[in-house]
Amino acid sequence: PEVIVTKRDGEHSIIEFMEGATLMQAMSDGGVDELLAICGGVCSCATCHVHIDPASVSMLSPMSEDEQFLLEGSEHFNEYSRLSCQIRLTNEHHNLRVTVAEED
Ligand code: FES
Repeated sequence: PEVIVTKRDGEHSIIEFMEGATLMQAMSDGGVDELLAICGGVCSCATCHVHIDPASVSMLSPMSEDEQFLLEGSEHFNEYSRLSCQIRLTNEHHNLRVTVAEED
């Protein structure tokens, strides 16, 4: 399965993932090095912020309070914001589309 990532320069990357990986891991392994993910995926840094394509939102389960709290602190927060380290990928996420959020 694959996800489609739009980077900050507008370039699209098609990234293969293994089921069970987080979206953050898949993006890092797929060479999206602008995704800093400083905390390593423990929901405390918000540098793995992405915006979900509106057409892909229904593929995701709702976010936790911790995730929401952290995202609301970002100046680039909007209704499509998610932390990519909090999204665990399954085959159902094939063709999920996301855009890397601007850096705060
Ligand atoms: Fe730090 Fe996702 S990697 S919150």
